[in-house]
Formats: sequence, structure tokens, C-alpha cells
Amino acid sequence: MPSDSSQSMRMAYAKAAPVYDFVFGRLLQPGRRHAIRLMGLRSGEHVLEVGVGTGQSLPLYPRDVRITGVDLSPHMLEKARQRVRRHGLENVEGLLEMDATKLNFPDNSFDVVIAMYIISVVDDPDRVVEEMRRVCRPGGRIVIVNHFHSPSVWMKLWHILVRPIHRVVRFRSDLDYRPLVTRAGLMVERQCRANLCGYSTVLCCRKPPYETRESFRAR
Ligand SMILES: C[S@@+](CC[C@H](N)C(=O)[O-])C[C@H]1O[C@@H](n2cnc3c(N)ncnc32)[C@H](O)[C@@H]1O
Repeated sequence: MPSDSSQSMRMAYAKAAPVYDFVFGRLLQPGRRHAIRLMGLRSGEHVLEVGVGTGQSLPLYPRDVRITGVDLSPHMLEKARQRVRRHGLENVEGLLEMDATKLNFPDNSFDVVIAMYIISVVDDPDRVVEEMRRVCRPGGRIVIVNHFHSPSVWMKLWHILVRPIHRVVRFRSDLDYRPLVTRAGLMVERQCRANLCGYSTVLCCRKPPYETRESFRAR
């Protein structure tokens, strides 16, 4: 039985799906492109994209890596499926309706797990990052692209201006990434700014190579 919060998220993105690409397509594409470049993908690697949305990122991946995308919203996923057909993306192995807080994959299933512009939308970002970590293989990469809290006055003014748009996509602007990655036990290897005025941050993290989930929990 889906929770009230996932139902209301689905409803929000049912409304947003028809206009999502127009508003956030090109605007956030530099961040998606940057993140995929920084992943340093190797031929044959398997990538999980969490909160794949309308699949704006899918044509950006090299054709010799395998992609699985998940999202809570069937309306966003339908747009992603249309994109896969339009671009003939045979390397996209699956686009599945799934809650990022309860990923239906075994531990250590993917070489790379990425989440773009979703961490500040979900109710429980810690749980999402923990799930990303669980399904990533030891030594694999976890990439997060998002806007995080900024002390800048200009950024605060900007947020007041775009608040109505943020409300539609359930975006919050006050999330701090540091405690998030620390609590998940991830090592940040690279961090850089992307998108207009460096609005978003790309975080490239690694899951420690020799740590099991049990030993991580026991720390
Ligand atoms: C702002 S959009 C980002 C979409 C895409 N990553 C992009 O680059 O445009 C946030 C996406 O997260 C999805 N989402 C929200 N909560 C989710 C959850 N708990 N599990 C999976 N997807 C979720 C929404 O349906 C939406 O497609």
C-alpha cells in the first residue's frame, strides 16, 4: 500500500510531467552532462539512475554502458520511455516504477548509482542515499547532483523568486550535503559546481571497497 507522501509525490509529478522538460530540460542539462562525464564510465558498466524522471540524461550516456532507471512517477517514466524509443537507446535496460527509499535490487548490484535533482525532493534523503549505497558494489561510485544549502544572499533572493516553481516539484533549498554523505559513510572524491551561476553541485563519491553493510552499520 503506497504511503500518503508517495501518493502526493506521484500527483505532483503527474501535473509537472507535461511541462517538466520545457522548464527543467535545458536549464539543468549542463549539470547532467557534467556528472556523467565525471563518472568516468567504462565499457560494460551498469549504472542505476535513481529518480530518472523524463529521462533527460539518458541520451548523454555512452552507448556501451548499461542503464537502469527508476522513478516513483508513472507519468515521468512514460516520457522517459518515449525518449528511449525516439533516440533508439538500446543500452537502457529498464525503466521501472520504484520508490528510491525501498529499492527492489539486491545489495551490490551496480557499478555506479546516480541521483540527479532528486535528493532535495524526497521526504527522507538519508534513506535514499543509504539505499543508493546498498545497491552499489563495494568500491563503486555514487554521484549526486543537486542544489544544496548556500549562505549567499543572492541565492536566498533567487529562492524567494523561484519558490512557486519549487513548490510544484517539491524542491527544498536548505539541504546540507555534508552530514548526508558522512552519515552514509561515503568518501567524496570530487566536487564541482554546475548549471547557471554554479547553482548545482556535482558530488562524486565512492563506496568504501572493503566494507560490508553489516560492518558499516556496526560502526
Ligand atoms: C526534479 S525531478 C528530477 C528528474 C531527473 N533526475 C532530471 O534530471 O530531470 C525529481 C524526480 O524524482 C522523482 N521522485 C520523487 N520521489 C521519489 C522517490 N521516493 N523514489 C523515486 N523517485 C522519486 C520524481 O517523480 C521526479 O521524477
